[in-house]
Amino acid sequence: MDPAFASAESLLAFWADAGVDAMLLDEPFDRIEAGKIAPPRPPERKPATLAPAARQVANAGPDMSSAILQAQEAAAAAQDLEQLKAAIEAFDGCPLKFEGAARQSVFYRGAADAPLVVVGEGPGQEEDLRGEPFVGRAGQLLDRMLAAAGLTGRTFITNSVFWRPPGNRNPTPGEQAVCAPFLERAIELVNPKMLLLVGGPSAKSMLKREEGILSLRGRWFEWRSSDSRIELPAMPTLHPAFLLRQPAAKKKAWSDLLTLTERLDRPTRG
Ligand code: URA
Repeated sequence: MDPAFASAESLLAFWADAGVDAMLLDEPFDRIEAGKIAPPRPPERKPATLAPAARQVANAGPDMSSAILQAQEAAAAAQDLEQLKAAIEAFDGCPLKFEGAARQSVFYRGAADAPLVVVGEGPGQEEDLRGEPFVGRAGQLLDRMLAAAGLTGRTFITNSVFWRPPGNRNPTPGEQAVCAPFLERAIELVNPKMLLLVGGPSAKSMLKREEGILSLRGRWFEWRSSDSRIELPAMPTLHPAFLLRQPAAKKKAWSDLLTLTERLDRPTRG
């Protein structure tokens, strides 16, 4: 068989396996209207105070509010991603550091100026060992799906918490609230065009929503930083670990990625 044909056939087989059965979105989109996207607002600094949403979570635990304030101060002082990584490593305010992580904090991998920030739930065992997010089986599937959507090299991949939750349980809202100032600062430094929220715990904490991921996925939301200085379009989708258990759901995740990529690549008026 012609090698070019064989490689095209194997790529098609991979896409079919991932649930890709169409090259087009269900709905057409208006490229003239698309050009009317407002330019991002310039950031404006505010003094560190406990944001209302964080304050609400902080009330759930006695020491959380001071840990959140410490995280806000440490995150705001970081001038680049290297400094932010060092600040996370030095931070002792998240209980997961002492309860779940065996090795280290796990911050990000990917492009520091990516147009897309991907936020997962939290590191697992493989990530704790290697110090990078999404490097286990779920991460490999995520990478294959991002590659099929043309997003290789265009993502900054991180999590809602930076230490492994014990036994790979979901992170609690309090643990996510303590890590949120670092995540928000990372988003501010990367300055992406949009967010992909992977899995229910990530989507719920970022969007402050109560619905399950099957209801949230595939819809556009507006993510707002806790001080309201940054607003970005955000798309929740299914977690790749779920897709490994339920391969039939890959089709839904693929449709979400297509919707997201269409908006990401939409021409903006110059
Ligand atoms: N699952 C996540 O949500 N994040 C990781 O980094 C790995 C697995």
